[in-house]
Amino acid sequence: MTTAPSTARLFNDALMADPYGTYARLREAGPVHRTTTPDGAPVWVVTRYEDVRAAHTDPRLSLNKANASTTGRFQSSVPPELDSHLLNLDPPDHTRLRRLVSKGFTARRVEGLRPHVQAHVERLLDAIADRAADLMEALANPLPMMVICELLGIPAQDRGNFRNWTRSLRGSEENSAVESRTSMREMHRYLTDLIAAKRNRPTDDLLSDLIDARDERDKLSEAELLAMAFLILYTGYTSAVNLIGNAALALLLHPEVMISVQAGSTPVRAMLEETLRWNPPVTLGTRRFALEDLTIGGVAIPAGSRIWVSLASANRDPAQFHDPDRFQPERPPAHLGFGQGIHYCLGAPLARLEAEVALTHLLHRFPELRLAVAADEVEWMPSFHHRGLKTLPVTW
Ligand code: HEM
Repeated sequence: MTTAPSTARLFNDALMADPYGTYARLREAGPVHRTTTPDGAPVWVVTRYEDVRAAHTDPRLSLNKANASTTGRFQSSVPPELDSHLLNLDPPDHTRLRRLVSKGFTARRVEGLRPHVQAHVERLLDAIADRAADLMEALANPLPMMVICELLGIPAQDRGNFRNWTRSLRGSEENSAVESRTSMREMHRYLTDLIAAKRNRPTDDLLSDLIDARDERDKLSEAELLAMAFLILYTGYTSAVNLIGNAALALLLHPEVMISVQAGSTPVRAMLEETLRWNPPVTLGTRRFALEDLTIGGVAIPAGSRIWVSLASANRDPAQFHDPDRFQPERPPAHLGFGQGIHYCLGAPLARLEAEVALTHLLHRFPELRLAVAADEVEWMPSFHHRGLKTLPVTW
């Protein structure tokens, strides 16, 4: 057993500017690093593929923050009323709640949405009039918002608000904690009112189904109902946006792959899986807490410690992937971009469908698509947890 190397401030500008280079150096230096979160809480960062994969299925790691021995200086911007969701819970509560929503997200159920998603994509692409566009604004941002709001049953006229609220959380390292907290409070109030309205007049959507599970079958508490709506809306939007953006960028940076996808030699799905490895929308998994003293990669970690598993680092581990920095859609998919185990992404089939339809139609409509700025000029949202573009200027 060894002790972890200590890195005073890992979550700094250097990591933000070059996540993969920084993680490569860390991974090389040791499997687990002790550092502090941006808000000052001690944290252990896990860097290697095998350890990250194993941590996802280790029952000694809890997602419930009641098991933390330390906290940061700032409170989370998410109000405690929205806390009782899947990514803060362990079995048996997690199992009960996940069962309630999982049938809405099976591959078969989601496949039924394809014609609908196609129609949205066609409409968004029709609206691109000039010979230049920001793909984030024109396609990657609006599509997942339309789809997740329809699935949940958020009226069309309210969707603009959601976009602003989730944006403020998405770029939360840049925004003030006060701004994020205000957005979250507004979102909380809105969801509370919407649930009340749907109680009086149920509609055919996931939120009405959840309200029914609460009122008629007593399967979840009011707090769990609210938090579930919040989680699905938030995660269903942010990461799907980033998958579409990151996949489009990967194609623009690799013209040979773009040609191969256009020729039908590389399936769009394979290109998306490689994007989830090479530049994953979620770079750090949800924080976990050690329920007992344990070791990861031979490093001793005391009970109560906060653990961050780096998906970005695991996905570029040369012990798992040959030549990991190369974008190679033909490699067998083994990425951890959607996590693993009981918290494996609920929305993975939906995210894959949205991105597949978006990218397929985009390449068909604009076969000559290219970046309108130099590769090193693309700008990223400032986040240690997510990897997403601010804008994606293209021309054709
Ligand atoms: C490309 C897009 C997406 C990526 C990369 C992604 C990534 C992830 C990851 C890594 C986790 C596991 C977190 C952990 O265990 O630490 C997760 C969980 C989850 N994701 Fe996604 N996600 C995406 C899209 C979506 C969509 C569209 C939805 C919509 C429903 C969604 C809903 C969820 C939920 C509810 C969980 C928690 C599951 C649980 O705890 O049982 N995600 N996602």
